[in-house]
Amino acid sequence: MVYGVNRMIATDMQNIEALKGKDLLKLADYTPELIETLIYLADDMKKNKENYSEALKGQLLGMIFEKHSTRTRVSFEAAMIQLGGHGMFLSSNDMQIGRGETIEDTGKVLSGYLDGIMIRTHSHSRIEALAEAANIPVINGLTDLYHPCQALADLLTVYEVKGQFKGVKMVYVGDGNNVAHSLMIGSLMVGMDFTLAAPAGYEAAPQIVEIAKGISEQTGAKLEFVEDPQEAVKGADFIYTDVWTSMGQEEEAEARLKAFAPYQVNEQLLSIANPDCKFMHCLPAHRGEEVSAGVMDGEASVVFQQAENRMHAQKAVLYGAMKK
Ligand code: CP
Ligand code: NVA
Repeated sequence: MVYGVNRMIATDMQNIEALKGKDLLKLADYTPELIETLIYLADDMKKNKENYSEALKGQLLGMIFEKHSTRTRVSFEAAMIQLGGHGMFLSSNDMQIGRGETIEDTGKVLSGYLDGIMIRTHSHSRIEALAEAANIPVINGLTDLYHPCQALADLLTVYEVKGQFKGVKMVYVGDGNNVAHSLMIGSLMVGMDFTLAAPAGYEAAPQIVEIAKGISEQTGAKLEFVEDPQEAVKGADFIYTDVWTSMGQEEEAEARLKAFAPYQVNEQLLSIANPDCKFMHCLPAHRGEEVSAGVMDGEASVVFQQAENRMHAQKAVLYGAMKK
């Protein structure tokens, strides 16, 4: 393998070997070193695309969607094609899982045809059941609890902007949801300080907070929970937000609009952060709700860089898990 950046060192090569055949269900299943290696690999893959054009030659990735998607679907398919393989879109509406076939049976059957599975699903226990039954790597394309591929793309974006993680402050403002969980875990793992500002009743899940506290102790990265968004963003290098109503929560939309109203990321909130603070969002975004149009489309916004980085980060994940 040829690496174009000096950051890829012998340790990274060993780490990549360690990823072979491994599932990516949540970031905490990896070590901080493995996460950093994936970021450096993604960075190299972005800069030296041609070096990897046959890395997964002839390999097949099944991409099961039980929820909507634009970025995850297209970036995974593009990633597979760029690596010399093929991504197969599998909508649960058209599959027998949509009519009650078990996820375990589906995993066993697909293992006979494919080299890897990516799934976007509801409960995290469902992806765990799939991974247990399948004998090929399973990658999490979002569950109700986590969105690890999003967080890897976010870390790559931070790395591109700052060139480092230590001493960088990431502030997530809004719903303590799947995106917040993975971002919190991922940020702390690479040594970035993390603050979460959520309204009462919409904080991060207690079991994820416990995991995050353990990682913060291990890496020395600061972890803070603040209710007041104005207080939270002081000294922020990045302000991140996500939708107030996630997929599957549509019935709560009205109550959520009220609860989250003081949590909009707008020009006033951004003005409290560091002068060069960047705005991040996993997308899709709702201008006028969680973010003002001015911030979303303004100079501080790196949201489309993040979206592109989904593909680069996932190429690293696919390479690590599936390279023969
Ligand atoms: N950020 C993200 O996962 O986008 P999609 O829902 O479009 O895949
Ligand atoms: N939290 C959002 C993320 C979408 C990419 C959801 O789960 O709907």
